[in-house]
Amino acid sequence: MTQQGSQKKVLLIFGTRPEAIKMAPLVKALQDESICFDTKVCLTGQHKEMLTPVMQFFGIQADYSLDVMTGNQSLYDLTAAIITALKPVLLDFQPDYVFVHGDTTTTMAASIASFYAGAVVCHVEAGLRTHNKLSPFPEEINRQLTSRIAGIHFAPTAKARENLLQENIRPNDIVVTGNTVIDALFWGIEHLENHTLSPELESIRDLIAQKDVVLVTGHRRENHGKGIIEICEALKKTAEIDNTLIIYPVHLNPNIQQPVYESLSGFNNILLISPLNYGDFLWLMNQSKLIITDSGGIQEEAPSLGKPVLVMRDTTERPEAVEAGTVKLVGTNQSLIYNEAHALLCDEQYYQKFSARTNPYGDGTACKIIVNHLKSLHCNGG
Ligand code: UD1
Ligand code: UDP
Repeated sequence: MTQQGSQKKVLLIFGTRPEAIKMAPLVKALQDESICFDTKVCLTGQHKEMLTPVMQFFGIQADYSLDVMTGNQSLYDLTAAIITALKPVLLDFQPDYVFVHGDTTTTMAASIASFYAGAVVCHVEAGLRTHNKLSPFPEEINRQLTSRIAGIHFAPTAKARENLLQENIRPNDIVVTGNTVIDALFWGIEHLENHTLSPELESIRDLIAQKDVVLVTGHRRENHGKGIIEICEALKKTAEIDNTLIIYPVHLNPNIQQPVYESLSGFNNILLISPLNYGDFLWLMNQSKLIITDSGGIQEEAPSLGKPVLVMRDTTERPEAVEAGTVKLVGTNQSLIYNEAHALLCDEQYYQKFSARTNPYGDGTACKIIVNHLKSLHCNGG
């Protein structure tokens, strides 16, 4: 029973693929504590096709589904649409706590709307910083704004906690948890045994087993235009390295789809495929020799799998994996990307230095720590 004799109302709001992956284990963990918490999920709809398979994979459901996504959406329209669409949800459920995750437009807009509704905002994956307003854009500012609004900050690492302390967030309001992505990863790996690969992946399973697979993803707004064109040129050259197969599940953003399909279609050693469901993607990460990406989440997952990652960004808010030696920043210069990829694919000793299995982002207990903290505030024996 709660101290007040009633459940606390908890709403998790998320909208994009990475938020869904990283919030899914927390949804389960909070729903397991139904004596203390009445937990509901609200999807903003910032993503559609890319988010549904995550919900299916983890077996979680939305209580509220908003429908804000438009093709090639602008930040202005998306932000306004999310805040407006959340009003009736917040007025209906009247949550005590709202959980948001990370640094997306959903995160920032949901934080401000929840603040208007008088809820305590709990920020998961708080405190990551590049301290560069323009990189990642607009995520660095989304995350900083969310820190100003949040009442409880769940920081994945000691470094993230340190960043928050430097911004005068009170120490008692910060809890270091590890990253929930590791909880998701462990849950996913455990459930891979029962997972059926999509026909598209199944049809290339044998080819994948014979080749050195380079797995590629990319979508960042700051890489649209010149950046993605440079990336494609680097991938064309990398595909010429002996025994290499590039597999690229292409993000649905039209600013990525159009240049990638235009530049990389028709090459023997480059497979452009649809975004994969999380189970397929975990399986493919495991089969890969090297990952080239601008994704945040993949920088956190890959070190656990012992896979070297080249990050096509100039800055990262995730320095822990760089320091651990499994992630290297290469920006979007085509020569730099190619030279590093060549070194990793052709020099075994160099490769070994990058492929140590380390886990700077946690041990899969982040959700437990978060739930226990919330229970300690409200539930007897929490
Ligand atoms: C957003 C997040 C970024 C996160 C990324 C994950 C912000 C500011 N950025 O990227 O931090 O890393 O999501 O992928 O919130 N689209 C579809 N179907 C989908 C999803 C997207 O068609 O299921 C297309 C639509 O045309 C949409 C476009 O992709 O308008 C861009 O989606 P959006 O969420 O705005 O992308 P980003 O802001 O670049
Ligand atoms: N991912 C996935 N299918 C794909 C590509 C990525 O399930 O085809 C997962 C990946 O494992 C990681 C997350 O999506 O957990 C990363 O999402 P994204 O790169 O879109 O966003 P970011 O992490 O950069 O915010």
